[in-house]
Amino acid sequence: MSEAQHGSLRLRVDRIEPVTPEINRYTLSAEDGSWLPPFSGGSHVRVLIPFDDGQTRRNAYSLMSSPYDTSKYQIAVRRIHDGKRGSITLHEKVREGDALLVTTPANLFPLSKHARHHVFIAGGVGVTPIYSQLDELNLKGGSFELHLAVRGPEHATLGRELQEIYGERVRLYGDGDGSRLNASDVLAGRPLGTHAYVCGPARMVDDVIGAAHAHGWTDSNIHFERFEDLGSTGAPFSVTLARSGAVIEVSPEQSLLEAVEEAGHKLPYLCRGGACGECETEVLELDGSIDHRDDWLSESDRCTNKLIMPCVSRATCTKIVINA
Ligand code: FES
Repeated sequence: MSEAQHGSLRLRVDRIEPVTPEINRYTLSAEDGSWLPPFSGGSHVRVLIPFDDGQTRRNAYSLMSSPYDTSKYQIAVRRIHDGKRGSITLHEKVREGDALLVTTPANLFPLSKHARHHVFIAGGVGVTPIYSQLDELNLKGGSFELHLAVRGPEHATLGRELQEIYGERVRLYGDGDGSRLNASDVLAGRPLGTHAYVCGPARMVDDVIGAAHAHGWTDSNIHFERFEDLGSTGAPFSVTLARSGAVIEVSPEQSLLEAVEEAGHKLPYLCRGGACGECETEVLELDGSIDHRDDWLSESDRCTNKLIMPCVSRATCTKIVINA
């Protein structure tokens, strides 16, 4: 298997395909042809995008390839004119055969193991994490349906690909037939045990959550990922590793775990998404507060400020020393 070095994998860009006027799909594989680290449906990686001025931007992209085929990863990159240049650089500067540094996959949008039926709702490029989720469900024999809104027929390529694979379980809206996605209609009258997943712009996510609540759904059955969830992660801070004395800067776009790995140190991890507990680390000194973003620690653990999950959580402080 291809090993992560200093927190990132060096991958070759095997193929670049334009799939809509704004979206390119990139197929990446290990330069030595080895297997890539496994991932589950809904995972993402961060691509380290180098700029000419020496700076590096870390953009997060969902993995849309099959979790059952780790000979490659596929991501879709939408060209965004947000002044941050990351997606533009990938579109304009990266060519087939180039190498890219990519972080190990993390999953902040996993499938529920308890759902009897999965209803996915997505807008535009928000369909990308759902690609790998559907593949996982399909192979496990899970029950699902996808409702995908697009801005017009020329933006519907990914949705049509999914329709070819999954047939009527995929419904497209805005594909030139005048149809509009109505979250309330989609979620009305669902039997107990149905879980909803939404990925797209903030307004769509809010609409779906609002519609689900209006129909009496509980939060445990509603899962969402906003485009911005995977973006910048907070203010920079520095962390001291007690055993080596190393002081490591954590940038706004890195997790604490990624910063420690990039500095050449190791911490335990499994899910990299705050869910498994594997990276739980003792905090020995802290002169501020921990921004707990995991689903692992209990409320009482959090209040002590003595434990942190480095894969997702951050600190607001001038000094934090961890037992690592
Ligand atoms: S690696 Fe799973 S909670 Fe951090």
